Amino acid sequence: MKYLSLLLLLGLAACNSNKNLFSYRIHSPSGNVRVSFLLSPGGTPGYAVHFKGKTVIDSSSLGFTLLDAQPLKFNFELVSTVEDTINEPWQQPWGEQRSMLNRCAQLVVELKEKEAPKRIMHLIFRAYDDGVAFRYEFPEQENLKEMVILDENTRFQIRNNPTCWWAPGDWDIYEHLYTESKLKNINAISKRNHDGLAQTYIPENSVNTPLTMRFDDSLHVAIHEAALVDYSDMTLKVDTNSGLLTSSLVGSDRLGYKVKRELPFKTPWRVVMIAESAADLADSRIILNLNEPNKLGDVSYFKPMKYAGIWWEMHLDKSSWDLASGKHGATTAHAKEMIDFAAENGLKGLLVEGWNTGWEHWIGFEDREGVFDFVTPYPDYNLEEVVAYGKSKGVDIIMHHETSAAIQTYDKQLDAALALMKKLDLHTVKTGYVGKIIPKGEYHHGQWMVNHYQKVVETAAKYNVAVNAHEPIKATGLRRTYPNFVSREGMRGQEFNAWSSDGGNPPNHLPTVAFTRMLAGPFDFTPGIFNISLKPYKANNQVNTTLAHQLALYVVIYSPVQMVPDFPENYKGKPEFEFIKSVGVDWEKSITLNGEVGDFITVAREERNTGNWFVGGITNEEERDIELTFSFLPEGKSFNATIYKDGKNASFDKNPTSTSIENQVVDLNSKLNLHLAPGGGFAISLMKASDN
Ligand code: NOJ
Ligand code: CA
Repeated sequence: MKYLSLLLLLGLAACNSNKNLFSYRIHSPSGNVRVSFLLSPGGTPGYAVHFKGKTVIDSSSLGFTLLDAQPLKFNFELVSTVEDTINEPWQQPWGEQRSMLNRCAQLVVELKEKEAPKRIMHLIFRAYDDGVAFRYEFPEQENLKEMVILDENTRFQIRNNPTCWWAPGDWDIYEHLYTESKLKNINAISKRNHDGLAQTYIPENSVNTPLTMRFDDSLHVAIHEAALVDYSDMTLKVDTNSGLLTSSLVGSDRLGYKVKRELPFKTPWRVVMIAESAADLADSRIILNLNEPNKLGDVSYFKPMKYAGIWWEMHLDKSSWDLASGKHGATTAHAKEMIDFAAENGLKGLLVEGWNTGWEHWIGFEDREGVFDFVTPYPDYNLEEVVAYGKSKGVDIIMHHETSAAIQTYDKQLDAALALMKKLDLHTVKTGYVGKIIPKGEYHHGQWMVNHYQKVVETAAKYNVAVNAHEPIKATGLRRTYPNFVSREGMRGQEFNAWSSDGGNPPNHLPTVAFTRMLAGPFDFTPGIFNISLKPYKANNQVNTTLAHQLALYVVIYSPVQMVPDFPENYKGKPEFEFIKSVGVDWEKSITLNGEVGDFITVAREERNTGNWFVGGITNEEERDIELTFSFLPEGKSFNATIYKDGKNASFDKNPTSTSIENQVVDLNSKLNLHLAPGGGFAISLMKASDN
């Protein structure tokens, strides 16, 4: 259904309140979510969001501040509105869920300035059952050819003072812990000079997105963005007096503006995710639905996989990336050993870091351009031989491109590096961007870098290569359009447990991440450390979870590439390792069964093509009891369950490796009571019983 209403002519415009001249509403398919377009008497556009009649976002204005031009936010008149519905089923080639449905109401509002230069701006609103999205569109027009944006002035007037889980609006890195506080107590400035970050810049009291909020009536709302292309990352500036959030784009000190675009163009979607429970929020697919369909076609060269690595050993200082250290990790012999380990345990990939020249100049060097070489292995690493050995055992090498944020060096070598991968028939690269961006004045999350990350993904696609980026731009659902952008970091990963001097990731880290960072997309967290104490390598660090919690992460934290990072000797002979060997990585469907932000979460996922299910549950530092019902299982089928749970007296700090393993047959009527230790968890594999 599509119709055009010329509001001014037909007189359909409703007078909303004294404050607004016009108001035009659309509702989501269920009718629960409503977004209203508003136009003030002064011609300032705005919007409001309601859920079941309650205000979620109060009247909030929209607009832009531009360089050398009048701001684009006053004096607009309404030209037309076009209402539409979208009902588009689609499928993910790999993912947390195969069958998707992009279903919403859409409203396109055409606005024009009343006076010269009579610039035209369109607003596109969408109402989904799990939230609202809107974006600005600038069509081709006479009096506006290019926009140099000093800032986007999108406001989100939040009602009341919800509890927030926030990370600072750092222009250069997302690897912060989340903080829980009331909205009006957010203090991002207090997170400056955080330990363990190779680069950080928090210019103001802004937060990163996704920002997750819980209201007193238990409504859960998160603000994020979708389809971030050729634009800057949006942080949210917090006014702690009024509770107003305002978009604050990441800038460039080099260029002096935030975004430059030629017309026509569309901004990323601004998204307000809405759910009645934390579990429903985690299961929202709105970010993916807002992105454009697959532009790459067949990406079957990428297969979701578990992978081993010559990696954790560097983080524990057992070996090193650089040859000069005298303890180089990436040797031909060691790579072959690790390929054997991977092959024996059904892991399809091996990440080898430190394989290429340049690592002697990795950290602490101002001038890092020209240092890394992405086609030249160190002399003790025979790349061809290792790749061939891996191929003979069904294990592909995952290439590693640590750019050290020297972007032009990587850019110059990009084609050659990817062509080498193509020649070797390798299809996954892990990229890295540690350090301050060169050229100086650029930040990891500004438009210039957004375009770099995008170029890498699109170039990689030409060589049939999938990308797993560390120190990346945040996920905004682009994996729908470019399904070779398979995973990324963009949050404090397991590595912080190895070396950070602030005690590592606390037990509530991942129960928070599951409802915040994970709303954006897959996270290469690298779960599965069995040597929790990190002895004998690290005296002052440990992993702050139980072993059962580590197992659960393979289900809780979604990524189509899941690392199995610990040393082979730490898995050897451990019955718990059977869970890692059996757990799926590609899913028919995923359901969050329960959870509260920062406290606990339980997720169930059905593996594609096998019909087996896997369940993972984790808790924060508090122990808790969970009653699990298996009603998600298909009718009339029974499953052989292996339950890996915290053992007697287990706890993340005193007794982390105590685990108990039980077997039983379950079906959809079964119930199970589970006790989770402090920092604990459980993991269950549910293999289809052979009699069904
Ligand atoms: C930071 C990445 O997150 C980590 O996984 C990698 O080992 C180092 N950079 C070196 O590239
Ligand atoms: Ca990192």
